[in-house]
Amino acid sequence: MPTPHISSNIEDIASTVLMPGDPLRAKFIADTFLKDVKLVNQVRNMFAYTGTYKGKKVTVMGSGMGMPSIGIYSYELFKFYNVERIIRIGSCGAYDKDLKLFDVILVSQAYSESSFAKTMGISNRHLLSASKSLNNRIKRAATKVNIPIREGVIHSSDVFYRLSHEAYKEIYEKHQTIAVEMESFALFANAKALNKKAACLLTVSDSLVNHEETTSEQREKAFTNMMEIALNSI
Ligand code: HPA
Repeated sequence: MPTPHISSNIEDIASTVLMPGDPLRAKFIADTFLKDVKLVNQVRNMFAYTGTYKGKKVTVMGSGMGMPSIGIYSYELFKFYNVERIIRIGSCGAYDKDLKLFDVILVSQAYSESSFAKTMGISNRHLLSASKSLNNRIKRAATKVNIPIREGVIHSSDVFYRLSHEAYKEIYEKHQTIAVEMESFALFANAKALNKKAACLLTVSDSLVNHEETTSEQREKAFTNMMEIALNSI
């Protein structure tokens, strides 16, 4: 049954969904890695593709940027499309000086100033965890495909552009957040609210420490390590 933001039939969405932020990255993953691909959502150009990877059915769908956007799509997938697990595959900015461009992070917990979990009515806490069992599957897949990952706490921020470049240091020091992105906290809140599983893999696209960054074309195409880990975990 269609929802306000997803027009798919229920049988066209797999029980596991991979969610990049960018809908064109979802298309890239479907074109590059999946067989028997079908485009199953085009509402607002938030493309979703369902296909198979090594014989297993999987859906890849864009989440958009920020907690409100992933909050809407992940809620509708969990609640109305019987999705059991969502793995976000996104980009992040490094807070930790030892992280290099294209390093892959597995999120253990997301810290956020966001009111998402409180407003939803599930928690007053500002730290939410990924699914341990899903993270264990992802770690086994990373070992299998021989790609190193760093596990850690990240910052889910509502703000991309800040007046002070140095402001990240306070959050880094206080909450031991190794990197920043803008979605995991809402995804983990929805999973907790609906008794589902969520995880998040991130590729470092820029560094707040040494001001390196990748291009938008690299962001679309070059994050294949993270995609292979996520696909091999399903
Ligand atoms: N801030 C927030 N989200 C991000 C960043 C950043 O610097 N880089 C990639 N996603």
